[in-house]
Amino acid sequence: KRPAGAPDRSLARKVTKVGVVGAGLMASQMALLFARRLEVPVVLTDLDQARLDKGVGYVHAEVGKLLGKGRISSDQANRLKALVTGSLTKDAFADADFVIEAVFEDLAVKKQVFAEVEAVVSAECVLATNTSSLSLTAMGADLEHPERLVGFHFFNPVAVMPLLEIIRGAATDDATLATAFAVGKSLKKSSVLVKDAPAFVVNRLLTCFMGEVVSAVDEGTPLEVAEHALDGLGLPMTPFALLQLVGPAVGLHVAETLHEAFPDRFGVSENMAKLVAAGKPGVYRPDFTLDPEAVAIFSGG
Ligand code: 3HC
Repeated sequence: KRPAGAPDRSLARKVTKVGVVGAGLMASQMALLFARRLEVPVVLTDLDQARLDKGVGYVHAEVGKLLGKGRISSDQANRLKALVTGSLTKDAFADADFVIEAVFEDLAVKKQVFAEVEAVVSAECVLATNTSSLSLTAMGADLEHPERLVGFHFFNPVAVMPLLEIIRGAATDDATLATAFAVGKSLKKSSVLVKDAPAFVVNRLLTCFMGEVVSAVDEGTPLEVAEHALDGLGLPMTPFALLQLVGPAVGLHVAETLHEAFPDRFGVSENMAKLVAAGKPGVYRPDFTLDPEAVAIFSGG
């Protein structure tokens, strides 16, 4: 069945090569998923060789895990590893039909990335953004072909979370949207078409409850208590573990976007801002014991 609002699937263009801008965790997870489900070459780009090596290394490690679990054969593992490569220049995207960016959540940075990509790809190549909350229409404003820009928003962990938010900007055309839905289907995700509204749907809802949990801590509830206050709901993760998974900087950015759009409904926690300014990746240490410095920040210390 065609998802609500999706255009006729006969309009979808074939995707034979994918470009991924950024080689961070989200981008690397996407690269593996594209290679595994579309079985096409996937090129990652980033600013320096170290980041690229880390991204490709992550893909290889995950392929090793899939092989270890018996989910793929050793032939498939070798094929997957060969399909995902890194390149320092976007020239490697010249023959790509679908390029997705997962770089820092900054409108100017994303616009710059797409300007560079647009200079090398064909006019039909779909430009997709994994933005968590920025406006598609604003992102496409200076593109030569804004009709091929579409939102393609994954959830962490990309390999596991079933949902994909597909966002239509003011200029996005039907062929681009149909291609995005076809790719979502090949990736075995459940795609939903959402409006180009601040933080779209999922992050707006998520920020409602995460914002309240963080506010409770800001207002004096001990972090350890707030962390377990939702245990009765049977959620798969505690709020601060989820914050760690998503990354505090992304969570803060979403909250700021929503605050700007709806100041009477969404606040921005000062402690969250301090946590991000302190460069903390979350409230836990790598061994999942609470990080005393992060706890001190949240406790107003
Ligand atoms: N990468 C790949 N696979 C992963 C993974 C990762 N980072 N983390 C877990 N998995 C896989 C495991 O390998 C395992 O697969 P298997 O069944 O094939 O062996 C499966 O997921 C279950 O993992 P575990 O048994 O280790 O652990 P859990 O059962 O506790 O599940 C979880 C882990 C799936 C992360 C679960 O805790 C969960 O669903 N958490 C909620 C995540 C969530 O809410 N995400 C949305 C965040 S919002 C967002 O991303 C939007 C952004 O814009 C902010």
